[in-house]
Amino acid sequence: MATKPTNISLYVDENFEYRVRRDIGAPKPGNGELLIETLFSGANPADVKHAKYLGIYPACLGYDFCGKVLQAPSCSAFEGGEIVAGYTPTGLGRPLKYGTHQTYMICPDRMAFLVPANLPPEHAACLSVVAMTAADALYNLFKFRLPQDISDNSGNPKATGPLLIWGASSSVGICALQFARASGVFPILVTTSPQRHSLLLKYGATHCFDYKSPTVRSDIEATLESYHCNGLYYGFDAVGGSAQQVASCASQDAILASVVHEQDPRFLMPFAVTADDIALKLPDVPHPITVPARPDDHWRSWSVLQWAVQNYRTHFQLELVDVFTGKAEDALEELERLGSHGRGFGKLVLKHPLQ
Ligand SMILES: NC(=O)c1ccc[n+]([C@@H]2O[C@H](COP(=O)([O-])OP(=O)(O)OC[C@H]3O[C@@H](n4cnc5c(N)ncnc54)[C@H](OP(=O)(O)O)[C@@H]3O)[C@@H](O)[C@H]2O)c1
Repeated sequence: MATKPTNISLYVDENFEYRVRRDIGAPKPGNGELLIETLFSGANPADVKHAKYLGIYPACLGYDFCGKVLQAPSCSAFEGGEIVAGYTPTGLGRPLKYGTHQTYMICPDRMAFLVPANLPPEHAACLSVVAMTAADALYNLFKFRLPQDISDNSGNPKATGPLLIWGASSSVGICALQFARASGVFPILVTTSPQRHSLLLKYGATHCFDYKSPTVRSDIEATLESYHCNGLYYGFDAVGGSAQQVASCASQDAILASVVHEQDPRFLMPFAVTADDIALKLPDVPHPITVPARPDDHWRSWSVLQWAVQNYRTHFQLELVDVFTGKAEDALEELERLGSHGRGFGKLVLKHPLQ
């Protein structure tokens, strides 16, 4: 009888060392949890940033995935052999079983969905974190109309903007742009590098600006004036670190959000994970803090993620998904590169089992 492959895990230890472990063994599911054989795991900057900036270590790395169900609880919506995708919980003391960059992993039943034929498994593997973050910004913080609630005969839905997405070619940004288009937001202004302008116009941007241009702010202001708007109504820094550029274009009562924590109290922060309380340890704060759960918001974002899944390739998609195949040690280097310098445009997924 064929033996099961070793569980190979990408791991950060108690000394902040990133290393490969082959000794952890296959995890065991708890109540309401699925045992998954990972097919692909999605790479995110969070994979390496969360140890240093949020105190989540030691831990197995990785948050989103696509894989085959090996074991499901009796009350589950899923059964063995099905291909599912989703993401896993975060926070201090994160159990090793939730790391998705390993051969076998555990996912709470409620954080998984069936992968339909229109959604390639490698795309499914990197969708949840970025789409849930974008959905939290647009539907819970900005309170836009849900894409699934926009019907053909609902009158003119183009009344919500102007919205500015700074860094709309980040993966979070490209999700936010397509959600905004589907929700009838107008006009949608985005910043991106010039080589991405035609792509983002195709995905629903009304106007594109080069974020490196010395005239970017006055260009945005001139465009807003052409709509008789004295500043943005909604501003989203989808890359992190660009909040003040966004704020400088905003009207006085604009709603502003950033994917990373900002000192400026005008900025709200969306989260990928809002279903549960999250305990974190921030570098400059002596005690752990708890980000309270927002269960209603979680299910609203989840419903939009499911809209994206159902409409994948017709109304929503990730433009570029690169697949890494090879040695676990090399995969770890890819994650460290992504976490420290970024990789540029597009998503990266790891194919399992790693060697
Ligand atoms: N709060 C949460 O729960 C949560 C969840 C997920 C991600 N995040 C955070 O969200 C941010 C984006 O993550 P991601 O995975 O979407 O990133 P990503 O896909 O790696 O973003 C890459 C893109 O960012 C763009 N970019 C880089 N610097 C820029 C700048 N100064 N201005 C505008 N665009 C710039 C580049 O666009 P061009 O190609 O056009 O140059 C590049 O293609 C990260 O900081 C991440 O940690 C937060």
